[in-house]
Amino acid sequence: MDLAQLAQTAAAMVQPGKGILAADESSGTIKKRFDAIGVESTPDNRRDYRELLFRSTDAMRNHISGVILYDETIRQTARDGTPLVTLIEQTGAIPGIKVDLGAKPLPFCPGETITEGLDGLRERLTEYAGLGARFAKWRAVIDVGEGIPTWTAVKANAHALGRYAALCQEQTVVPIVEPEVLMDGGHDIDRCATVTEFVLKTVFQELYEQRVVLEGMVLKPNMAIAGKKSSRRASVVEVAEKTLMALKRCVPAAVPGIAFLSGGQSDEEATAHLNAMNRIGGAPWRLTFSYGRALQAAPQKAWSGKQDNVAAAQQAFTHRARMNGLASVGQWERELEARAT
Ligand code: 13P
Repeated sequence: MDLAQLAQTAAAMVQPGKGILAADESSGTIKKRFDAIGVESTPDNRRDYRELLFRSTDAMRNHISGVILYDETIRQTARDGTPLVTLIEQTGAIPGIKVDLGAKPLPFCPGETITEGLDGLRERLTEYAGLGARFAKWRAVIDVGEGIPTWTAVKANAHALGRYAALCQEQTVVPIVEPEVLMDGGHDIDRCATVTEFVLKTVFQELYEQRVVLEGMVLKPNMAIAGKKSSRRASVVEVAEKTLMALKRCVPAAVPGIAFLSGGQSDEEATAHLNAMNRIGGAPWRLTFSYGRALQAAPQKAWSGKQDNVAAAQQAFTHRARMNGLASVGQWERELEARAT
């Protein structure tokens, strides 16, 4: 393990004005996204779509610090034969890789999952590092409902995150530690904040027990936010304040940065919430984005699988990347959205 290198990579991932593009949709998830825009999910179509993102030079150079890739993508080449990893590196962004193998049902815990993928992870990390990955991602999923999450599920998922993070650091790969509390239910923002605290406390205890060096990791949490089916919507300021409070109670200041997931928020909500937190200021860590849907929904729609739409899709991606880049330093304004072409 090279701690200085880990800390340097982690700092670069959360540098001011930039954030992470989560383009690591599994084959199943990207098929769902492509179905929504009427595009067949073939390896070539997936390559063409991701290539257009990575060739969005303005967005990539100015607003994207790193890209999370999926196993297929890290091995793919652009139409002209250039490895997609090289395209990313040429923009100054850092390639990373999703290494978990997905969330599977957790025995005796109905409605809850455990993320798999620890067996053979050391060998897979060695291979991915050889392909250019300098950071990795592992997503644990915690659902909120009646009687859940259980301690069994929280503990098991936190343990797996700790095991994963230690294996990454052993090979000087920065772990993105992602415990996602879902926003699918009918719960309110306070319940989300309470569950988020419970999960984060447990995760950081596991990271400590498994000797993970906090200076060499990035946390990717959900925000404290009401469930999608909740009748009480929280304001932007309430989300920002309650998210910051939960994080301050649980995340040691030694962690260099926090890069939020968007989790099903609308594009503009995800930007506004991040911006509001950075406006409040005073946090001991950098606060930025690691968005999947909130960066890609607009370009996917604009592209719709047509070569003629590539420029429009790149423009849509560049706009969202720029808005979120501004939010990462608290300089976003709603009016900037309206002025977009
Ligand atoms: P969303 O921003 O769409 O939640 O995706 C981020 C991610 O990487 C989920 O694992």
